[in-house]
Amino acid sequence: MTPAPASRAGGPGAPVRVLLDVDPGHDDALAILVAAGLPGLEIAAITTVGGNQTLEKVTRNALAVATVAGLETVVAAGCDRPLVTGAVLTDPETHGASGLDGPELPEPTVRLDPRHGVDVIVETVMAAEPGTVTLVPTGPLTNIATALRRQPAIADRVAEVVLMGGGYSKGNVTPAAEFNIYTDPEAAHIVFSAPWRVTMVGLDLTHQALATPDVHQRFRAMGTRAGRFVVDMLDFFGPAYRAKQGFDSPPVHDVCALVRAVAPDIVTVRPGHVDVELHGQHTRGMTVTDLRGREGRDLDHLVATELDVPRFWDLVTGAVARLP
Ligand code: BDR
Ligand code: CA
Repeated sequence: MTPAPASRAGGPGAPVRVLLDVDPGHDDALAILVAAGLPGLEIAAITTVGGNQTLEKVTRNALAVATVAGLETVVAAGCDRPLVTGAVLTDPETHGASGLDGPELPEPTVRLDPRHGVDVIVETVMAAEPGTVTLVPTGPLTNIATALRRQPAIADRVAEVVLMGGGYSKGNVTPAAEFNIYTDPEAAHIVFSAPWRVTMVGLDLTHQALATPDVHQRFRAMGTRAGRFVVDMLDFFGPAYRAKQGFDSPPVHDVCALVRAVAPDIVTVRPGHVDVELHGQHTRGMTVTDLRGREGRDLDHLVATELDVPRFWDLVTGAVARLP
């Protein structure tokens, strides 16, 4: 299968609708804020998945971030653990005991939707005009894989899937595997194997999106509640990332997937084919990526390779600056 062209059913200029499937998480939280502040972008729903912290904690965080952003969108809790491998991994070293340490989290005014997150994904996609909803998963792929199993027809109806996960040259949990894929490789395998267009925004791309001191200062200068919230997040996330991964400035992985979904020319992609390693003793969760296509294999995925860094940060800071 060759990737379909990046057109949307609504045509050029039609509002982009994204469904954010998240495990906030500092970079997930920033992605939600950016989505909330982008003109012409509609958030169809936010669904949560156990990942950076337990489902209960990341859902609480999603509701708090939606409150900071002034959103009134549906927020629903999805799967609390990977499909096959027991309890969720979590990453308190990077994201803290709450999953979003740093900022003071407001008491949510956004109410949790009583439906299961997987039902929200299926119902949102099936109720929309074909080709009008883009899925942006930025946590383990458990919800998306379960939605596909529950209603395979969603594969034909979404515009595309732009996910943060994997990488073609490195991992961050193991030398081979990135956190979101490593947490639930079976779910990732289902998502990459389905007949829809998947763009992998992996570590090779996201390590270019570093929240440097200059970026930090741009958020600080906003003087808004949302700007302060981001500064407080970065004040925790930066040192945590330095201590655990040795980065001078932290990469805001998940925001890159959102930006690719809404402003594709900021993120360069190449056609490729991604297989998820399920069995390797040292490589479980690796996204084995073929960018060559010399063995007659279909290059049926898109793989993000290069970020336009100045335009990325202009878009991100511009969006957050639009929030109260
Ligand atoms: C991914 O894992 C999480 O820590 C982040 O939120 C991001 O989605 C990066 O490997
Ligand atoms: Ca995430």
